[in-house]
This record gives sequence, C-alpha cells and structure tokens, in this order.
Amino acid sequence: MPDQLIAGNWKMHGTVAWSLALVEELKHRNLDALNAEVCICPPFTALYAVHQALRGTEIKLGAQDVFWKDQGAYTSQIAPPMLTELGVSYVIIGHSETRGRFGVPEPDFTDEILRHFGENDATVNLKVKAALLHGLTPIICVGETLAERQAGQTDAVITAQVKRDLQGLDPAEIGCLVFAYEPVWAIGTGEVCDAPEANRVCALIRRIATELCGEENAQGLRVLYGGSVKPDNAHDLLAQPHIDGALVGGASLSAASFAEIVSHAHKIANHRNNGA
Ligand code: 13P
Repeated sequence: MPDQLIAGNWKMHGTVAWSLALVEELKHRNLDALNAEVCICPPFTALYAVHQALRGTEIKLGAQDVFWKDQGAYTSQIAPPMLTELGVSYVIIGHSETRGRFGVPEPDFTDEILRHFGENDATVNLKVKAALLHGLTPIICVGETLAERQAGQTDAVITAQVKRDLQGLDPAEIGCLVFAYEPVWAIGTGEVCDAPEANRVCALIRRIATELCGEENAQGLRVLYGGSVKPDNAHDLLAQPHIDGALVGGASLSAASFAEIVSHAHKIANHRNNGA
C-alpha cells in the first residue's frame, strides 16, 4: 500500500512572500523524515517561487486547477504544460468551490456566484484527461451538498460524479488517480464528516473506480477525505481502512497544524507496518 497522501489546499491564500514564509516553517518541521507523502497546493501566482523553495525536499507541489487545452485564446486559463514547467506534480480538479451548483436552489445566489465557477463533470473529465496526458496526477474532488445528503442522495450523487469524471479513461490511467471525498457541507464549516461515514463513502468511491479499472489497476488508486480536517480529528479519519490520506484546507495554512496532521499519518503508517 502506498504511503498516505496529505495534501494542503491553500485556496486563495498567500502572496508570494507569505507562501515562502510558510514553506520555510514547513521545512523546519522536517516532514521528509515522516512516513507520509506530503503535497502543498498554493495559488498559481506562488507556484514558481514555492517550487524553487521546495528544492531539496520531498514535499510535492500541486496546483488548484488546470485547463484542458495546451494553449490558445482562453483568457485567464492555465494549461497543463505551464504547470509541469513549474515542477507541479498534482492538480486538484473539480473542487466544490469551482463546480457549479446552479441547478440547486441556494439561499444566497450572490454567494453562489462568488463561490462557484460553473465546473461540471464534463469539464472535470476533460481536465483529468489533459492532466494525465501531461504527467500530472489529478486529485479529483467529489462530494454531496447538505440538501443532497438530507434527501438520502449521497451515494447516487457520488456514484454519478465518479462515473462521469472517469468516462473514457483507460483502466491503467484510473489506477494512477487520487480522489478526494469532500462533502460540501463539511468544507470550511468545522463540521467534519464522522469517520466511519467518511470511510464508507471513500470505500464506495474505490468500489466504483475498481469496477471500471479492475482490481489490479486499482491498487495504486488513493481516496482521500477532505472537509474540516484538523489535528484533533485527523487520527480518527486517517486510521480508517478506506481513507488513504487527507485534503486539508484551513489547517494547511499553519505549519504547526499541517505538520501535526502529517505526523498522525506517519504514526498510523508505522502502526500498520508493524503489522498491528
Ligand atoms: P477545510 O479543511 O478548510 O474544510 O477545506 C477543505 C477543502 O476544501 C480542501 O480542499
């Protein structure tokens, strides 16, 4: 089993100066010595500087989105080769803050426009294919809204997202992917999904992907949990058998709390390696 992956999604936080200061703090914590794979995803504007600063460490660099064309008249978009040139290895695709939810009635439409950028499973699918073509590892985010959970639609929503996001991929490609189960209602709310339930949905994601790619290819697949992961709930979540890591938002903006989450993954890996 590969090491757990702890990825920090910095979202729209961090000037270059702020990002470099956080990287320095992370370097002091010597995360390379721990038994976990670590990735940080700063804003696009800080990628180059952070890539330079990460030299000589094992910390991987991730981007928060990617467009599916290599170049062209697509104002504001970032192409896969622009990311690989900067040493990016992971890319978050289909985060709920970029997916559109315009079909779902929301209490505050203005807030909806501010939070979402009209991403859907078709664009996620195109981005996943483009990322793979350029050697980037997608971290595909899926998750249900509170209304969908309350209506008992969680499994149907997740199943549909995973199937549509993977449409037309080779079985071997599916085996290289990372999924992140991020229930929309748990993101930035402090309301974490309870660990056995997060484990159940992560297992569902793995099952659907395995049906599409076969048991052998699925060995390399990782399913993370994201949504209010903090140092005090990380152990419970990461110790679940079907959770292969975490996608951390707010808590990744502090070196101390991010490092504590990584150290939980390390302790669990050691425990497992010792056959316990
Ligand atoms: P929080 O950890 O702040 O809830 O964010 C989760 C997330 O969206 C990671 O992609």
